[in-house]
Amino acid sequence: MDETALIRSVATWIAEARQVVALTGAGVSTASGIPDFRGPQGLWTTQPEKERLFSLDAYLEDPEVRQQVWRLRLENPAFTAGPNDAHLALAELERRGHLHTLVTQNIDGLHQAGGTDPDRVVEIHGTIHEVECLSCDRRVPVGPVLDEVRRGDPDPRCPSCGGLQKTATVSFGQSLDPSLLQRAHDATMGCDLMLAVGTSLVVHPVALLPRTALEAGARLVIVNAEETPYDDRAGAVLRGDAGEVLNAILAHLDSLQQA
Ligand code: APR
Repeated sequence: MDETALIRSVATWIAEARQVVALTGAGVSTASGIPDFRGPQGLWTTQPEKERLFSLDAYLEDPEVRQQVWRLRLENPAFTAGPNDAHLALAELERRGHLHTLVTQNIDGLHQAGGTDPDRVVEIHGTIHEVECLSCDRRVPVGPVLDEVRRGDPDPRCPSCGGLQKTATVSFGQSLDPSLLQRAHDATMGCDLMLAVGTSLVVHPVALLPRTALEAGARLVIVNAEETPYDDRAGAVLRGDAGEVLNAILAHLDSLQQA
């Protein structure tokens, strides 16, 4: 089936679906200038040594790691990036009533910035826009803490309990927020269409969600620049740029609604 016919089918499936769940990854933010992790220019692809910085054990044990992570946070593109066509298209899908829940592995907040209702977004790997204390769970906006780092504090401690602080993002070896995992699982169990966009679908437990959707009888549609382990089980694989593909799907939805 050629790409246009495939996009037309996907648009029809979305129009007819009872409950659509989107599962997004770093590939929806690359067009906003935020590198992904495992793509050709990905962070782990180009700087594999950096992956260690994002393990919880290394962060807890090594002050040098914490200081390097805080320095990296100062220049993280998520603080200056804006939403791109992929974020805007998913927000439009929601506006038209075709998106029940958006589970994102991204920490950049760009789905909300692009207009998706924050109540429908599950930031399952956390957010870079907040800081949490690893001892007393105090949670604050990231801005003032980054200001302390800029003013020379290399490893700002919690003002309440003196504990270590970290951006509220999930590090390797850190467990996910059970309530977020439950929300993502429940939405997936109830969906009849899962739209996986811009994710390599290799990091667990999120990488189990498409399997959960398939086992619940849902169709799986994958929009991704490269192969994923689920391509052979997907109802459709749309290989290309997330923003372009999602806009093409919206255009077909328009023609369906005009027909
Ligand atoms: N359009 C479509 N696909 C794209 C685009 C684009 N513009 N840019 C990149 N991609 C694809 C890449 O080919 C890759 O397969 O998006 C996918 C992104 O995969 P990863 O880099 O592995 O990112 P993600 O799946 O979100 O990683 C999951 O791993 O390191 C952890 O916590 C981190 O949340 C992250 C998790």
